[in-house]
Amino acid sequence: MKILHIDCSPRPDSHSRKLSAAIVAQLLDMAPDARVTRRDLGREPIPHPDMDYASALSSPKTLAHDQMDRATRLSETLIQEVEAADILVIGTPINNFTVPSVLKAWIDQILRMGRTIGTTPSGEKMGLLDDKPVYIGIAAGGVFTGDRAKQPDFLIPYLTAALGCVGLSSLQFFPLQATVFLSEEQLEEGRAALIASMAT
Ligand SMILES: Cc1cc2nc3c(=O)[nH]c(=O)nc-3n(C[C@H](O)[C@H](O)[C@H](O)COP(=O)(O)O)c2cc1C
Repeated sequence: MKILHIDCSPRPDSHSRKLSAAIVAQLLDMAPDARVTRRDLGREPIPHPDMDYASALSSPKTLAHDQMDRATRLSETLIQEVEAADILVIGTPINNFTVPSVLKAWIDQILRMGRTIGTTPSGEKMGLLDDKPVYIGIAAGGVFTGDRAKQPDFLIPYLTAALGCVGLSSLQFFPLQATVFLSEEQLEEGRAALIASMAT
């Protein structure tokens, strides 16, 4: 079994990093032979779509093959990392109600028409990747989901739509909330409760 472990926080002592690491540890407990590969978007951010990539997606018919290959090289690498994995684990903070821009930059490379997204005869988008479990550990400074939410949530609906669009619909979200208000002990308890709720 192969696990692709993605982190998005720029902070070394990050709550989403601890949460995603705990999810991976739980998966390794059940499958000790699993191999883990890393994509650390927080420490090594990928670029936002550049002119060549934007052109490749906007006017694919006018581009020569080698131009297209060059423009989509990073996208291809990242998509192949997803394809090679049996399970994805993503650790992410919430930033201004949604995913941080490093995760959005990754999504912009993964969602590609004609590669990971097709269309049905009636023109609907259709995911072309095989579905697989995706565990998403979220750290939020405040409370953004559930009965006590104090802010809108554009993260869970957005990731559900974006990943669903390429065929990844088996998502489990683990929100660790109020990180700026809780003690380390309370956060540890919160992390343990989230891991205990993991359906595998
Ligand atoms: C730029 C920025 C925007 C943020 N926006 C939100 C937000 O909209 N809602 C929220 O609850 N917390 C917000 N926070 C707080 C972080 O979600 C919180 O500190 C979280 O624990 C960070 O994740 P990390 O511990 O993995 O680095 C924001 C933090 C930063 C730096």
